[in-house]
Amino acid sequence: MVQTLGCQMNVHDSRRIREVLRDEGYESTDEAELADLIVVNTCSVREKAEHKLMSLLGRLRPLKEARRDVVLAVAGCVAQQEGARLLKKVPYLDLVLGPDNIPDLPALLADVDAGRRRSLTVFDLDSPRFLSAAPDPERPEVACFVTVMKGCDERCTYCIVPTTRGAERYRPADEIVAEVSSLARGGVREVTLLGQTVNSWYEPGVARPGLRAPSESAFADLLRRIAREVPELSRLRYTSPHPRHITPALVAAHAELELLPAHVHLPSQSGSDAVLKRMSRRYTQAEYLERAESLKSARPGFTLSTDLIVGFPGETEEDFLHTLDLVRNAGFVAAFCFKYSPRPGTPALSLGDDVPEGVKQERLARLFEVVAEQQRAHLRSLVDTEVEVLVTARGDDGRWQGRSQRHEKVHLELAPDVTPMGELLRARVAEAFDHSLLAVGRGGRLEPKRRRLPLAQEPST
Ligand code: 5AD
Ligand code: SF4
Repeated sequence: MVQTLGCQMNVHDSRRIREVLRDEGYESTDEAELADLIVVNTCSVREKAEHKLMSLLGRLRPLKEARRDVVLAVAGCVAQQEGARLLKKVPYLDLVLGPDNIPDLPALLADVDAGRRRSLTVFDLDSPRFLSAAPDPERPEVACFVTVMKGCDERCTYCIVPTTRGAERYRPADEIVAEVSSLARGGVREVTLLGQTVNSWYEPGVARPGLRAPSESAFADLLRRIAREVPELSRLRYTSPHPRHITPALVAAHAELELLPAHVHLPSQSGSDAVLKRMSRRYTQAEYLERAESLKSARPGFTLSTDLIVGFPGETEEDFLHTLDLVRNAGFVAAFCFKYSPRPGTPALSLGDDVPEGVKQERLARLFEVVAEQQRAHLRSLVDTEVEVLVTARGDDGRWQGRSQRHEKVHLELAPDVTPMGELLRARVAEAFDHSLLAVGRGGRLEPKRRRLPLAQEPST
């Protein structure tokens, strides 16, 4: 059993862990009681996520004590951050495994079987390894993640990720295109390119300008190449970009490539220039808005969502009001909002944590309210418009579900005899809810927008 806490990168890593284990003859189970091996893939971006790990391990303890042969492993960011210390803190833990050490899992498990508790948290800085996903015929997927880079060189002062994920390493374009291609031939229709600062991507080995120079990221070239070489794909997303690398070439790619969504999740963190400076984000609100506007002008109806932190050290009411201004000025249609959480070893620790918890809570609630109202207004404005929905799931209510070209969640009302899984459909929005839309197939008929290659014509590997 692999249990995942945290971000999409972890969801993706958990899948790699399952694949490595499958190759070793393990079968997947969702029930801890049946498992021979339990891997908890952890997050340490905020303190709350770490607490979650500790309480989960506490819940697993009786199971481990009842069946000593069950192997208990911790992977991911807390593993990287704590290393062997975690084995000391949690005496019933068998294995600690850093995010770059997933391929070493079989060897480590052999050691554990031989009675040795192990910890391996070494970054693969010299020859980075990127595990490829193989399409799983047992569980066909419509949407999938593909890693294009790992690590982060940004060093935002609040963030533990540069410590837990290491320096930036890029994956060669040939490898990325080969993985996207193989997934698409296996039936995947939407790929989300993944990386901590995904749009800083560079062909490895090519000289890069220094950190403070204007971005010359080659990410737009990568998007164009995938669009050109993988015709079976219906949609190509990416997460999470850094505003610093929203280059004119990337904006042009959004204008030209139909495959890209009319939406980007672009973390902003704060609207106050003073706070942004202390966070070391290296842009002002005006500069963020300039990039946001250039993206929005690339395609009609383009929308943005974001990440925001409240209560960063020294944040005044006035600073916070600038954040509310940013939310309105950028017209965010959604946001993940967090209270600042001091993290071990981060530069912001020296600034203290001086915004009282009550004030953080109150600012968070006010921020949620503004974001929620904008989200509702945006969804209402879509009633009676046409959306292009990639169908990815069927809900418990029997309705098909998918995402629009702008990533809104859409429930679909379709004729009962159609099975549109993986299709790109045009539908008319009939109703807006707080977080999603209800759309109906026009005249009940499906109208695939882009024709998929018939299977017989697909290139063979
Ligand atoms: N406290 C609160 N939020 C944080 N994030 C990262 N580090 C912290 C922290 N120390 C948020 C940022 C980032 C998202 C993934 O998590 O908004 O974009
Ligand atoms: Fe953390 Fe900043 Fe890197 Fe994002 S860009 S992972 S917030 S250091």
